[in-house]
Amino acid sequence: MGKVGLVVAAVCAVGSCAVAGVLVGRRIRSRCKWGRALDVLSEFEEGCSTSTARLRHVVDAMAVEMHAGLTSDGGSKLKMLLTFVSRLPDGNEKGTYYALDLGGTNFRVLRVQLGGRRSTIIRHQVEQQPIPQHLMTSTSEELFDYIAMTLKQFVDREEGDFDQEPDRSRELGFTFSFPVKQTSVTSGVLIKWTKGFAIEDTVGKNVSQCLEEAMTKKGLDMRVTALVNDTVGTLALSHFHDEDTVAAVVLGTGTNACYVERTGAIIKCQGLLTDSGGMVVNMEWGSFWSSHLPRTSYDVELDDESTNRSDQARL
Ligand SMILES: *[C@@H]1O[C@H](CO)[C@@H](O)[C@H](O)[C@H]1NC(C)=O
Repeated sequence: MGKVGLVVAAVCAVGSCAVAGVLVGRRIRSRCKWGRALDVLSEFEEGCSTSTARLRHVVDAMAVEMHAGLTSDGGSKLKMLLTFVSRLPDGNEKGTYYALDLGGTNFRVLRVQLGGRRSTIIRHQVEQQPIPQHLMTSTSEELFDYIAMTLKQFVDREEGDFDQEPDRSRELGFTFSFPVKQTSVTSGVLIKWTKGFAIEDTVGKNVSQCLEEAMTKKGLDMRVTALVNDTVGTLALSHFHDEDTVAAVVLGTGTNACYVERTGAIIKCQGLLTDSGGMVVNMEWGSFWSSHLPRTSYDVELDDESTNRSDQARL
């Protein structure tokens, strides 16, 4: 019994030593992991901290770039594009309006009936569709034909309770969220595609004209009465609900902002006169942030990896 007891005790001792060894080993390893985790966290904390000093620096840098962008084209990270929108909806609008929203992988067609008093959107219909992948890199004609066809089908399904005056051609607001050099409130030429679109022959073209030509081909009697980008559309809707709204910011597939500027401050377009004394300026601020946002080693690694991937995809 005594011997057996000793053996059992010895086995237990060896066993508990082994267990202790495993536990200590684990603890050491997890300490290492924990230490590593703390290192990562403190790197992030440092890299992403938005101290007041840092925020002030960003504000100052943005003010400088805004001035430069309003002074001349191409002189700033902020494009500060003119929109020719000098008045925003105030809630008194009445009637049926159409809208087309193209700015990412999906596009939407909308019909709204406005009642003439603030916040009275009587009816509102929306249809959302993905843009077929192959159309994002095909030809201008193919893309706009597809959009016009979808719009035609939407209009043809018009319901009787939308009071559309029979002889009036329909009015379309076109939200086109790519950098555009606006030539009037109803037209503008595409500067470049972004967000996965790459259709060479649209660059430099009047996008309202591209759409109107496609609509005519489909027998759709509709005019583009406003060409805006999504930030301007966001500002217009907010202003419809609250006239004190002066700026809009979009955080989506990309990021952008617009605001109402005094025409006198838009130096690159001297003598610009509007009935309101102001104009909405589309900042196109995406590239500003890429040089002012924190960039940790992980962002660098991820960027390098995705650049390599898309290079490989291109090859
Ligand atoms: C762009 O196209 C629209 C629609 O066809 C037209 O009304 C406008 O005059 C055109 N703008 C320019 C600058 O060609």
